[in-house]
Amino acid sequence: MLIKAKKTSDVASSEITPKSVYLDRRRFLATAALAGAGAAFGTIAPSLSVPALAAPGRGAKLAGVKETKWTQKALGEDLTEYGSVTKYNNFYEFGTGKTDPAENATKFKPRPWSLAVDGAVEKPGTYDLEDFIKPHQLEERVYRFRCVEAWSMVIPWVGIPLADVIKRLGPTGDAKYVAFETLNDPERMPGQRSRVLQWPYKEGLRIDEAMNPLALLAVGLYGEELPNQNGAPIRLVVPWKYGFKSIKSIVKITLQAKQPPTSWNIAGPREYGFYSNVNPGVSHPRWSQAKERRIGDFLKRPSKMFNGYEEEVGQMYAGMDMRKNY
Ligand code: MTE
Repeated sequence: MLIKAKKTSDVASSEITPKSVYLDRRRFLATAALAGAGAAFGTIAPSLSVPALAAPGRGAKLAGVKETKWTQKALGEDLTEYGSVTKYNNFYEFGTGKTDPAENATKFKPRPWSLAVDGAVEKPGTYDLEDFIKPHQLEERVYRFRCVEAWSMVIPWVGIPLADVIKRLGPTGDAKYVAFETLNDPERMPGQRSRVLQWPYKEGLRIDEAMNPLALLAVGLYGEELPNQNGAPIRLVVPWKYGFKSIKSIVKITLQAKQPPTSWNIAGPREYGFYSNVNPGVSHPRWSQAKERRIGDFLKRPSKMFNGYEEEVGQMYAGMDMRKNY
């Protein structure tokens, strides 16, 4: 995701790791994780609902999670292994390397956590995370996740539908867009001491996108609390868009009339648009988006329009030029 810092070829070879290399790394990381398990255990926050003991190095089990129609069986694709989902990350607040977030976020404490809600809503305020989530039932949803760097995963998220949250907050007539911000705290997020992006990380959706039933505010994965490196304690998941729309560790949600600025668009406006819908027909200026490597696979597979969610989301973009609105 670095702007013009790499050549296309680098993306293909180093970021999209062949299985053999990444298996070796996983073996190494598994050993490292075991060595650090004692320390990691102490940093795990209590469960959002009924606290349960976590396996060493893993998040607490989440209770009361309802199954949905978005099951692995319905998707018909294998889940990406937990080890890859949690050790091959993009989270620049903890470094720009793929394994940096897992290595550098171990001490991050995602509690206490509050979320500020402002702008065009009937119920603005600062909510404690637990209060923010409590009115909703946690759901499990297995989604494809496609990074703009042309790798992908299949992840069993746990979260609450963004649409339900917005309905509860009471959007007013001016709520045309939803803007999100990540925590800005270089003490706790050492990657923010570098100017690799403008902090805080910002993202946004059009209100109809935010209200689409697929959009999820995730608080967990694999039935457990979100690991720090995956955006604890709460992050967005927008499965039909490139992964950078799925902003992590959210502290602020603003409903507003104007399209909000977004971090990657500020960093590279020619490369990263506001919409960022997965579109195999529109290449990134430095590499093709036609194919992707599912992490764990050796061969690439063709990418699908809207990451395979065209039926659910296609109508939102009817009449829009998807080349202009990349
Ligand atoms: N959110 C914040 N705050 N900072 C980031 O650097 N990276 C984005 C997105 N959300 C990022 C972020 C990118 S580029 C991707 S691909 C996904 O997070 C990666 O999510 P994952 O590490 O859980 O797979």
